[in-house]
Amino acid sequence: MEEKKPEVGAPAEAERAASGAEKSSTAPQTDGAPGQPSSGLIAAPESDWPFPPAHLDLADQEIHVWRAWLDELAPDLPSFTESLSASERNRAARFQFERDRNRFIVRRGLLRRILGRYLNLDPARLSFTYEARGKPSLAGTVDAPMIHFNLSHSEGLALFAVTRSAPFGIDLERVRPMPEPDQIAAKFFSARENVILSALPAEQRIEGFFNCWTRKEAYLKATGQGIADALPEVEVSLTPGQPAQLLSVAGDAQEASLWSFHALAPAPGFVGALAVKARGLKLVCWQWPGSRPASPAGR
Ligand SMILES: CC(C)(COP(=O)(O)OP(=O)(O)OC[C@H]1O[C@@H](n2cnc3c(N)ncnc32)[C@H](O)[C@@H]1OP(=O)(O)O)[C@@H](O)C(=O)NCCC(=O)NCCS
Repeated sequence: MEEKKPEVGAPAEAERAASGAEKSSTAPQTDGAPGQPSSGLIAAPESDWPFPPAHLDLADQEIHVWRAWLDELAPDLPSFTESLSASERNRAARFQFERDRNRFIVRRGLLRRILGRYLNLDPARLSFTYEARGKPSLAGTVDAPMIHFNLSHSEGLALFAVTRSAPFGIDLERVRPMPEPDQIAAKFFSARENVILSALPAEQRIEGFFNCWTRKEAYLKATGQGIADALPEVEVSLTPGQPAQLLSVAGDAQEASLWSFHALAPAPGFVGALAVKARGLKLVCWQWPGSRPASPAGR
């Protein structure tokens, strides 16, 4: 099976998600932080993604986000493969193309290493359980404190996030030209989002589109629903440079007030979003060691 980035928002996207098919494939907080550019793509300073200290604590009110360029970790493939479960290896074997297979193996292996690091457990000993629409969570670690996690990838870049506070969702997309952005927005964005998007200056429109998409998807990953059928019901802010916010869910602004959103800019040309049903959490970002390309061309 080929893993290729879904054509975001294309009508086939929601259908593919519904079928459970393989994804064919900041912080850089940008929540109105001073100095953030209000147009053009957000370029997160590398200093916003430091390497982690040897000993890492995950405080109750924190969300840690990890950034990794998957292809840079390919030399470690045998060790990542060793840590996977039989079902993860079966899943890997179903990818048609080697690059997609390797990215999947590194992604799942890295997820295990990150979780194992916080839980002080051997990554290979972790096991996962899945909700009806595929959201994974940790199983069989009853002796360890609860950790919520979620991850997203776009091309060779992946984000992994963990917190003890509440379930959440994260999404990442490379900002790229879309073949039929207006049709996609008409189908999956609300009327208000469409008005705001089309009023943006032309040079901000693609970023606004992906801000909208990633924020909706982050929310739908937080609830575990996925993007199959509820994208238009989730209404978000999208204007570049303005705070990431949930505005309403199925018209309910009260529900929206219970959530926090963070815009993420993990690398030039990428936007992401994190949605959590909690207030006042602190976002902390880390770069996975050995996974930063020597030059942007390597990305
Ligand atoms: C979850 C979903 C939005 C991911 O979209 P994507 O842009 O292709 O992929 P991302 O890189 O952002 O995220 C993938 C990761 O999200 C997690 N994930 C999978 N399903 C999830 C869900 N329903 N909710 C939250 N997270 C989910 C997994 O960890 C997955 O990583 P993995 O492939 O290594 O297992 C999409 O696959 C979806 O909508 N799934 C639901 C399928 C569904 O509705 N099935 C019902 C059949 S009746």
